[in-house]
Amino acid sequence: MERNDFIKSLGLGIALVCTGSCLSGCGSKGSDPQPNNPAGGGPPTGTTASVDLNSQLLSVGAATTVNGILFIRTAAGNSASSFAATQAVCPHQGGALNWIQASNYIQCGLHASRYTSSGAILAQPNDGGTTSALKVYTPTVSGNTLSVTV
Ligand code: FES
Repeated sequence: MERNDFIKSLGLGIALVCTGSCLSGCGSKGSDPQPNNPAGGGPPTGTTASVDLNSQLLSVGAATTVNGILFIRTAAGNSASSFAATQAVCPHQGGALNWIQASNYIQCGLHASRYTSSGAILAQPNDGGTTSALKVYTPTVSGNTLSVTV
């Protein structure tokens, strides 16, 4: 190998090592805003959640979260149609969703997006991002147990 060829190949090797070091040092995006929640915020298929209607959701407007499902009582009586069930984690970036009874909507605790009890979007996140409609589930009632299976 000629000296010039050796120096050129050495230079290329050093350039590759430096590039690799710089890229690995710059690779972390831990503090960057994340895009939409990749899982969409819904619990995994097979998840079940149950509520004892003897002690929970006793009044219209009451809500509770079990196993990633947000249950809301929307009407009196213990038929399935008296309840709504949605995902309890925001599809935007995973904030916790809360039922705001006084305002009759679901609100994200992270960027304040808002949804109806049937999952429709009322307000986009306040960070300039966009969210998607909530996953909704069909509850069943057996005796005094309200349940959802995802
Ligand atoms: S995580 Fe819910 S609006 Fe951003």
